Amino acid sequence: MSNIPTPHIGCNDKEMIADTVLMPGDPLRAKYIADNYLEDVVQFNAVRGALGYTGVYNGRKISVMASGMGMPSIGIYAYELFKFFDVKTIIRIGSCGGYLPELKLYDIILVDKCYTDSNYAVVFNNDYDDYAYPTESVVEALETSANELGIKYEKCCIHSSDLFYHLEKSYLDDVKARGCKAVEMESFALFTIAKALNKSAACLLTVSDSLCYSEEMTPEERETKFTEMIEIALNTKL
Ligand code: HPA
Repeated sequence: MSNIPTPHIGCNDKEMIADTVLMPGDPLRAKYIADNYLEDVVQFNAVRGALGYTGVYNGRKISVMASGMGMPSIGIYAYELFKFFDVKTIIRIGSCGGYLPELKLYDIILVDKCYTDSNYAVVFNNDYDDYAYPTESVVEALETSANELGIKYEKCCIHSSDLFYHLEKSYLDDVKARGCKAVEMESFALFTIAKALNKSAACLLTVSDSLCYSEEMTPEERETKFTEMIEIALNTKL
């Protein structure tokens, strides 16, 4: 019996999905990348609006699919892509909130370590390590790509949180003491699943808001400023 299509990815041909999948949180950003950067595009998923496309960039087959928000959501898609569609590498391209004043809006972060206060990995595979790591070779390839394009980035540790809204802020001292410079909600699950299934993963983030400053990106800025991060990911040779 075939495992595909899966409950959340309505595609019945593995060949429709490339070895490498770029994964923004937002389905419309996945569509934006397909529409503006890829040639010969086919759509392979629309289940629950988690749009997924495969196309060609600079002669290389590549897919882009939305993860939705939070570890439970990216966990479902990453697991199904790795396990049932034979995807080898997932590169998350997301947004984050800056914890420190030196991180400005639009700065690009390449995650080299990620801390969580979630119990995702404990429940997933009894892994009590509260740090997770991207795949070194993919991080190196992303660095090479960014350097080729002359785009600056900060390589650092981030916090993968289960919460966007908090009524209680005392957790902030702890995550900052652990070296987390920014916060998002997906990387820890992605890295944990990739490691458990012997696959590869990495994460690029653009600072979209700051816990130190009151300004946030406008919708227009979000579109243009994510461009550099998208280009680093697309130009990566794995
Ligand atoms: N918190 C959590 N996730 C995020 C944030 C944030 O402030 N900004 C972008 N993703």
